[in-house]
This record gives sequence, structure tokens and C-alpha cells, in this order.
Amino acid sequence: MDLFDRLKDLREQGLAEIKEAESEKSLNDVRVKLVGKKGDLTQILHQMKDVAPEKRREVGQKVNELRDLFNENLASAKDSLIEKAIEARLEAEKIDVTLPGRRKHVGSKHPIRIIQDDLERFFIGMGYQVVQGPEIESEHYNFEMLNLPKDHPARDMQATFYVDADHLLRSQTSPVQARTMEKHDFDKSDLKMISPGKVYRRDDDDATHSHQFMQMEGLVVGKNISLSDLKGTLELVAKHEFGQDRETRLRPSYFPFTEPSVEMDVSCFECGGKGCAICKNTGWIEVLGAGIVHPNVLSAAGIDPAVYSGFAFGLGLDRFAILKYGIDDIRDFYSDDVRFLQQFRQEED
Ligand code: DAH
Repeated sequence: MDLFDRLKDLREQGLAEIKEAESEKSLNDVRVKLVGKKGDLTQILHQMKDVAPEKRREVGQKVNELRDLFNENLASAKDSLIEKAIEARLEAEKIDVTLPGRRKHVGSKHPIRIIQDDLERFFIGMGYQVVQGPEIESEHYNFEMLNLPKDHPARDMQATFYVDADHLLRSQTSPVQARTMEKHDFDKSDLKMISPGKVYRRDDDDATHSHQFMQMEGLVVGKNISLSDLKGTLELVAKHEFGQDRETRLRPSYFPFTEPSVEMDVSCFECGGKGCAICKNTGWIEVLGAGIVHPNVLSAAGIDPAVYSGFAFGLGLDRFAILKYGIDDIRDFYSDDVRFLQQFRQEED
């Protein structure tokens, strides 16, 4: 075959090989084979001696043309391989920003928490401080400091979970009264506090009883604190929580730590006082217990009852929530059914 034919074949074959190379590596092998030092074109040049002298120039030219052509094609094949690799990588690493986001399930406040937060805000606005106390409490604070000495029959009203001989799950938030009074500096200011928290009583759970529930204790101690201060305060609470047109009344009651003791009723918000199932046809609903702090309780905390006086109250947050939202089973508060809880979704403030 003469050199011109070989060049023609090489041209076709070389261009095809360049086109077929699928990676930079194989393309480089093709490059070495075609235009490398020992490549096909070089070999053709070596055979120049066999070519008639007058044709050598032409062969030289053709070889150079072909080298240029190969180099051009090699370069553009390399570019397009690089481009393809980038494209493949982009495709593999693609993040589809058009996917819809994952929906976050935002919880809702527990109904008892709604009432608690609301009352806390209300009392803070009247200058009260919010105090916490331990849930495992000593007999000393849960009973003795509250004028309930050992063997006092009123302890039976709060059948209790004992942890050991001297400690129990507190049966009321009232011990926080004693703890706070002991620490307070009455020369500086009157004491105005509330204390929300869990309390426990040995009870058989049913629609209206729970062995665990929430209370909010309130206490004001200063000079000349009287029953009318208590009445005015409780009236504000009742109207705030149950509506401005609610009537209130105080009934005599008994608590060991207050004397006199009262229970407060609000006029029924369902029937307005006419009588219905909710108020058991009395027109009134009992909402909390309260009274004037017993002198023994003040003395026990180191406060002189001849100088200072105070009022206290204790309300059940569960009860407030039950009344306010018309809930018919207290166990709903503690059984974690989101369908129940979601009903109380409210605009967060
Ligand atoms: N501790 C009482 C209870 O659990 C509630 C109570 C009543 C608290 C009258 C008080 C109060 O501070 O004055 O039944």
C-alpha cells in the first residue's frame, strides 16, 4: 500500500478512535498511539526513505496536516469528555430544591398549662411572685407547718403517698406557703406569692378523680391584710377567668391552716344562675378554698401574728380547666391523646 493510502486509512481510523474514546484515559492512549513519539504518524515519517524524493514534500505536508487534524480532534474530544464528567457529577449531586419541605408538627399547649400561664400572668400583674416547691415533701412542711400536727384527723382528707416515714408526694401546694414565709424579709416588703404545681393523693381514678392533679396556691402576708382583701382579690380572679359578669359568693368552710376558712362559688356560667346540670341546679359552682392564715401557721414560720396577718387560697387548675372548657373526664388531661390536646390549639402570644 502506498503511503498516501496509509495516510488516508489512518485518518479515518484515527478520527474514529478519537470519537469512540469514552474516558480521558482511553483518549490519552489514542493520542499516544496516533501522534506520540512512537505513534503511527511518526512511523509513517520513518518510512519517508522509501518514498520517491519528489513526493516527500507532499507526504511531509500530509503528515503535518493529519497531525494538526488529530490534535484538534483530540483537544475537542477531551473538552467534551471533561464537560460530560462535570455534567454527570452535577446530575449525581443534584439537590432538588423544589421538593416540598417537611412539615413540622407544632404541639399545642396543654389546657391546664393555658390556665396556669394565664393566671401566672394575671397575678404577676398584681405584684405576686411565682414560687416553686418540691414535689417530694417532708411531713413537716406538708402538715406540721400548716397546723396539722401528727394524728390530726384532717390529714385523712388527703390520703397520701408516703416515700418513707417522713416524706411523701405532697398532697397540696400549701407547704410552699410555709417554705416561702420562713425565708421572706417582712421588713422589706409584704409577701405576695403564688405557687403552681403537681400534687398527689391516693385516689381511685375515675372521671372526676385523679391521683395526680395541679393546684395553684396563693398567699399574701403583711400588716392589716383582711378578709375583704381576700374577697376583692378572689373576685378579680373569678371574673378574669370565668367572665366579667360572674357573681361570686364566699361560704364558710374548714381548712386547718386558715381561720376563718371559706370556699368561693361563682355564678354558673352555663345557666347564669337559673340552675342546670352543670351547677347541679344550685346556680353556683364551687371553684376554690381560701381563708385568713391561721395564727399558728404564721407563728410556725417565725412571724408574729399580733403584727402580721394574711390570706391564702388554693385552687385546682384541673378544675378550672374542666369548668372553663367543659371537659367531662379529668383523665383526658393525663392520657396523652393528641386529638384531645389539639382542640386547645391557640394563637401563641
Ligand atoms: N390545700 C387545700 C387543699 O388542697 C386548698 C387550700 C384551701 C389552700 C384553703 C389554701 C387555703 O391556701 O387557704 O385542699
